[in-house]
Amino acid sequence: MGKDVIVACDFSSKQAVMDFLDKFTEEKPYVKIGMELFYAEGPSIVKEIKARGHKIFLDLKLCDIPNTVKKAMSVLSGLDVDMTNLHASGTIEMMQAALEGLTRPDGTRPLLIAVTQLTSTSEERMREQLLIDKPLDEVVMHYASNAEKAGLDGVVCSPLEAGKVHDRCGAKFITVTPGVRFADGDIGDQVRVTTPEKAKELGSDYIVVGRPITAAEDPVAAYRRCVAEFVG
Ligand code: C5P
Repeated sequence: MGKDVIVACDFSSKQAVMDFLDKFTEEKPYVKIGMELFYAEGPSIVKEIKARGHKIFLDLKLCDIPNTVKKAMSVLSGLDVDMTNLHASGTIEMMQAALEGLTRPDGTRPLLIAVTQLTSTSEERMREQLLIDKPLDEVVMHYASNAEKAGLDGVVCSPLEAGKVHDRCGAKFITVTPGVRFADGDIGDQVRVTTPEKAKELGSDYIVVGRPITAAEDPVAAYRRCVAEFVG
């Protein structure tokens, strides 16, 4: 599995994201487009960034009835992204429908990964609000297994869970992990963080890094540091 650093481009306008990407004259980082940018600029922003030569992870976290998700995924498959995602909580049936919708007539498709439990959901909230009375990591592993059963390619999880996910679902099952900070950096609102080096050691396949790169004084240098520590 080739490891890579995905830059979370959490900007609210095309101007802001293009100004940021213009700084990269030598490399073409893998870009994550999330809800904020997608809802602000629409599908054209995906096509424009793709046309500049970047790989794209479209992070829209779909969750709805299987038929609706299937049709939405079929539209997204036309955007030629490299990876997209949904919530595993939508059930195995929803994930299977998503995979069908995402698969193009020629059999090709973007990678499809599942969010297990959001890192903002604590065990206490899960128990009290969602009535799920199991340890959080057991729920994460169970949802990862469901994603694997549905035929998905991997999950979004904490780097701290990446090794366990690989043990359960196999080495080829992709782990995409946010919550990465440099050892000497600010952690901001993230709680369970690891360094790029530690994420590599723990078996993450892709790290998603936002503010440590986008808000750095020198984003290109910060990106290169991530790549050096994570990919080596
Ligand atoms: O700026 P920062 O490095 O914290 O950005 C991390 C990115 O990963 C953000 O786009 C955030 O929405 C996303 N993410 C996360 N935790 C998850 C899923 C996605 O931080 N469980």
